[in-house]
Amino acid sequence: MHCFPGILVIQALFMLLLDLPVSSSHVSTESCRALLRRSITAFFYLWYGVPAHDNGRYLHWDHSVLPHWTSSTNEKFEAMINKHHNPELGDIHAPFFPARGLYSSRDPHVLRHQFREMHDAGITLVALSWWGRPSPTAADSQGVNTDDALPIVLAAAEEVRQEKGRGDLYITMHLEPYPGRTISTIKDDLAYIYEHYAHFSAFLPIFYVYDSYHIPPEEWALLLQPWGKESVRDTPLDGLFIGLWLERDHGQALVDGGFDGMYTYFASVSFSFGSTLANWDDMAAFCRRQGELGGKGGEKQVGKRLFLSVLSVGPGYDDEKIRPWNKHNTKPREGLDYMDRMLEAAREARPDAISITSYNEWGEGTQIEAAKVGEWRCEGNWEGNSTHLAVRPYVYQEYKGGDPYLYLNNVKLWRELLWGMAATEDEQTINDKDEF
Ligand SMILES: *[C@@H]1O[C@H](CO)[C@@H](O)[C@H](O)[C@H]1NC(C)=O
Repeated sequence: MHCFPGILVIQALFMLLLDLPVSSSHVSTESCRALLRRSITAFFYLWYGVPAHDNGRYLHWDHSVLPHWTSSTNEKFEAMINKHHNPELGDIHAPFFPARGLYSSRDPHVLRHQFREMHDAGITLVALSWWGRPSPTAADSQGVNTDDALPIVLAAAEEVRQEKGRGDLYITMHLEPYPGRTISTIKDDLAYIYEHYAHFSAFLPIFYVYDSYHIPPEEWALLLQPWGKESVRDTPLDGLFIGLWLERDHGQALVDGGFDGMYTYFASVSFSFGSTLANWDDMAAFCRRQGELGGKGGEKQVGKRLFLSVLSVGPGYDDEKIRPWNKHNTKPREGLDYMDRMLEAAREARPDAISITSYNEWGEGTQIEAAKVGEWRCEGNWEGNSTHLAVRPYVYQEYKGGDPYLYLNNVKLWRELLWGMAATEDEQTINDKDEF
């Protein structure tokens, strides 16, 4: 990390010499790799809204109950499916309630606090959930497109970066699977993102690609391998691309597709091959081997390419208020025990970096953001109607010990445990293999 400013200056000079437009003078892939190594990324959601900030509407706090893919299950939950939670009655879509109250992801004051909170916990990379360029179809299940919040979010991050000791806070992108996503729409997305956001100093071109396996490796290779027909490598659209390792064979698929690394995303342990802790040793070892071999198909590459491992940990999982039929995937937090088991497994696997699922995905109960503690219940209203749920009296869960910062403080502690000490001999060896 210490060599980073030097790299930037050299790159800036280089860009000047080449007379490239300002918008393409972004941080190099090598610098991204250096910044990702031994860092903590938090997955950050910016789809929240409250009436005062968002044209009189709640966004996501009033999330509807999602249908199951079988009609028999939907019949069981007929009274709830597609109906909205009702924040006006204190009923939100989550098992916990935010300590700062319901907020808007477009409120600069809230955003600055959130970035400070993350940075204080040792989180330097914030991955924004991004659902594509503005268009009527590029939106999540609640009809929210997150792109229009980005200028506000990036400006807030920029302000926090200027505060003493916070210059290493960066915004990265979490590319979500909007309908119709292909290699060519992704290439256009990259052009759009660079054009609109690369001028923010907070912007770092690291792209986590959710559900990357929806597109086969042969197609990814066209975009991400240096020899691909549509390759972004060594062009102004280049970046560090981290794909999702879900099933057993996805590690190899990501390598073949030309990705720079993998992440596992899921906070529900054993939900996928990639989120099964017993597999993490082998998965991280697989990633290290790519660096040694230069990757499959490396014969066509110039030099060797590292393949980074980013293991995702979370505090628990509970999405029953939006998916009442998904109880079998609920993972109670048990205070810090659940999260500590994931972190301990990650430490043993020696990944390149850690990501946290999530900072604020309240609807899936994976958030580490400060939650209200002390008994907090919604009043209840058994009426309901055709659009809103009949609200049952509901007692929100609280963080153990009544500490709203329990999980953020735990992240800080683990950052020390994972990477606080001087680089071990082993890490030195890995660094020696780096290409810069
Ligand atoms: C249903 O209830 C909600 C919340 O009380 C209210 O905003 C909405 O207008 C109601 N809808 C109908 C169709 O009555």
